[in-house]
Amino acid sequence: MNIVVLISGNGSNLQAIIDACIAGAPIKIVAVISNRADAYGIKRAHIAEIPTVVIDHKLYPTREEYDQALLITLQRYQPDLIVLAGFMRILSATVVNAFANKILNIHPALLPKYPGLNTHQRALENQDTEHGVSIHIVTNELDAGPIIAQQAFNISTDDTPESLQEKAHQIEHQLYPLTLIKIARGELVI
Ligand code: GRF
Repeated sequence: MNIVVLISGNGSNLQAIIDACIAGAPIKIVAVISNRADAYGIKRAHIAEIPTVVIDHKLYPTREEYDQALLITLQRYQPDLIVLAGFMRILSATVVNAFANKILNIHPALLPKYPGLNTHQRALENQDTEHGVSIHIVTNELDAGPIIAQQAFNISTDDTPESLQEKAHQIEHQLYPLTLIKIARGELVI
């Protein structure tokens, strides 16, 4: 299964997928695309000898023009699946519709709870006792597409947004590669 991974930052989820590929997962990362040249994930891709493309959002006056450039790049790689891994931009319908049911996102909350940003802070403010991670299909509504994988964990009284982020990351690094492997093997059909 050929995938393109979209990132904006650290790329620890990208690294987990790279590691799964090295360990023999039936997945090939054909490209990593970032909207930021300084994303650490770009370095991770270079080390793994994966082609990278930076499409800097600051060079495009509108979202539509940015997404046109992104679309052309994505089409060039013909991915079976597009994997958002900390890509901090909302995709317009141009991209979402061109790859309907072929874009996945990982979100640090138990969707449909807490779409958008600051999920850990919001879970603490609401005094939730559990929190978690969701993987969903990207549709035209933010963080609202069908959920294909989810894993919860307990919130303890001494948790902070930072500790929740750490817990969420640990789960993400297992759940994202595992879910992609299931799709590649045909065990999970979208
Ligand atoms: C992850 O927590 C993911 O849930 C969210 O962005 C974060 C990306 O982290 N969408 P990283 O860049 O993979 O380290």
